[in-house]
Amino acid sequence: MTRLYFNEVVTRDGFQIEPRFIPTDDKIALIDALSQCGYAKIEATSFTSPKAIPMLRDAEEVMGRIQRVPGVEITVLVPNLRGAERALESHADELNLVMSTSETHNQTNLRQSRAQSQAGLTDVIRHVAGRTPINVSLSTCFGCPMEGDVPLSEVMRFAQHFADHGVRGLTVCDTTGMAHPSQVQHMAEAMLKAFPRLQLTFHFHNTRGMGLANILAAVKSGITRFDGSLGGLGGCPYAPGASGNICSEDAIHMLQAMGYDTGIDLDRLLPLARALPEIVGHDVPGQVAKAGKITDLHPVPA
Ligand code: COA
Ligand code: ZN
Repeated sequence: MTRLYFNEVVTRDGFQIEPRFIPTDDKIALIDALSQCGYAKIEATSFTSPKAIPMLRDAEEVMGRIQRVPGVEITVLVPNLRGAERALESHADELNLVMSTSETHNQTNLRQSRAQSQAGLTDVIRHVAGRTPINVSLSTCFGCPMEGDVPLSEVMRFAQHFADHGVRGLTVCDTTGMAHPSQVQHMAEAMLKAFPRLQLTFHFHNTRGMGLANILAAVKSGITRFDGSLGGLGGCPYAPGASGNICSEDAIHMLQAMGYDTGIDLDRLLPLARALPEIVGHDVPGQVAKAGKITDLHPVPA
């Protein structure tokens, strides 16, 4: 049975686009509960500018108060050296550095050129120097909502740079749900061939309903690590048209039905998904939490 590994991003990618501030206690309680569900990783928060991402201005408090569960890595998103220093101080298990493969999206999201981001993140890698594992998330790898196509050669150029600088992993992000399954297969094959020894994670958004199909295409091509967001929440506030990540519990439910080992206890996870609308104050896109698992049978109507 193929083992797949999930990184839960609901309290970072999921919450960052929500209009109403989610109380710190709710974030901590959710992370603590998610830590009991079998995730390989949880992206708890981001160490970004509180002006850029006000939702995550409580990153230090969240990191200081969550319970650390052995076997569950706590990763955090980091855009620059300042963020890296804050992340190290908070004893994150991994730093997830971020930049975009699209010039326009990088400017919009991080307020600098790709070359500046690449140089800045390279400084971060040197600064961290073996103290904590580093992952680099590359945004808009399957297309940019402002520029359109992002050539595979551009994705590979940045990926190769960070591989050469000794990162442990790379995350290939479909920031606004532009990927389709054939493109995913092509990308997966290219990445696995070029970086067979790195942790390779794929990060999809379901903006156009292709999320689960893309997961399947990636799994069939040999990718074993995925980001997902509880309830299907999420999106980059600086990418026009962004909407929810692939829904963790829907993806996990599908993969388990197909016989994959995800490590996740769905019976623990689904109640957390069902409690999410109360936390965010609105309905969420996930479907399995509403419909129940395929093994939950209904009584015969009277
Ligand atoms: N943590 C906390 N504060 C930070 C920071 C960090 N990592 N990086 C910068 N700041 C602060 C600076 O101290 C400065 O504060 P001040 O206005 O009180 O003096 C302010 O933010 C601006 O700093 P500057 O270096 O000029 O950055 P910027 O305004 O060009 O913003 C980023 C650059 C990357 C810090 C900011 O755009 C950001 O945090 N973006 C987040 C993007 C994101 O998370 N997107 C969604 C996920 S992909
Ligand atoms: Zn995302």
